Amino acid sequence: MRLKDKIAIVTGGARGIGQAVSELFAREGATVIIIDLLADGQAVADKINAANGSAQYHNISVTNKSAVEKLFSEIFAKYGTIDILINNAGITRDRTLEKMSETEWDAVIEVNLKGVFICTQAVAGYMKNKKYGRIVSAASNVGLRGNFGQTNYAATKAGVIAMSKTWAIELGKFGITANAIAPGFTMTEMVKEIPEAHLDQIKKSIPLQSVAQPIDIAYGYLYLASDEARYVSGICLTIDGGASR
Ligand SMILES: NC(=O)c1ccc[n+]([C@@H]2O[C@H](COP(=O)([O-])OP(=O)(O)OC[C@H]3O[C@@H](n4cnc5c(N)ncnc54)[C@H](O)[C@@H]3O)[C@@H](O)[C@H]2O)c1
Repeated sequence: MRLKDKIAIVTGGARGIGQAVSELFAREGATVIIIDLLADGQAVADKINAANGSAQYHNISVTNKSAVEKLFSEIFAKYGTIDILINNAGITRDRTLEKMSETEWDAVIEVNLKGVFICTQAVAGYMKNKKYGRIVSAASNVGLRGNFGQTNYAATKAGVIAMSKTWAIELGKFGITANAIAPGFTMTEMVKEIPEAHLDQIKKSIPLQSVAQPIDIAYGYLYLASDEARYVSGICLTIDGGASR
């Protein structure tokens, strides 16, 4: 088991990539704390516990600083450590530049950028205390390449990469690594509204000729969260079938 006895927080773990990460981490021996606004997070935790894993679900928003701080302090009080933070929660509000409203801009910045900042700031002290930590945050290949209709989303995902590099510098001396993962198109609720014809076009543009499944991305999180990646920090691991190169 690659995460035996580790305490791992996974934001946005109720579905999609976050669910795959939660289930994989639990299979690898971690106790998984799922934070999500969707009550489906309870079903994910129940499934993990039924399979002899260890998981719990908390219905809070990553943007709620006081709720995040309270939860993290309770986790640390209970387990004496928080080893891994997976900043996976994220949203889209797509619109072309000229049509994008301030509300759409603000909503995406609030969750994808400020939520990642809030959770990481809340966990840093506990990790420093233990001189150990793995912080892995969800970027996107859109943060590297831009994407039509995603001014707000692209800005946040580029921001996640830059924040991760900054944390690698600030926290490295405490035994904490900070990295980002940049998935390409991955079959989750986030992309399921794409029309079939457009999806076919997307697949053809990817060297591996297919979109990712959530587990493809989860394996990247597993590596960066594991002891095996102890000397890897400040990187953005792209997992997109060769689309960005
Ligand atoms: N699916 C893709 O193609 C793709 C590609 C690149 C990057 N990503 C990134 O990977 C991450 C996961 O994507 P996904 O496709 O699994 O998305 P998803 O929409 O299926 O899941 C995201 C989860 O985050 C939760 N969430 C949203 N706002 C929250 C908040 N304020 N507090 C707590 N939880 C919140 C949602 O309820 C949901 O369960 C996101 O950050 C996304 O931007 C996805």
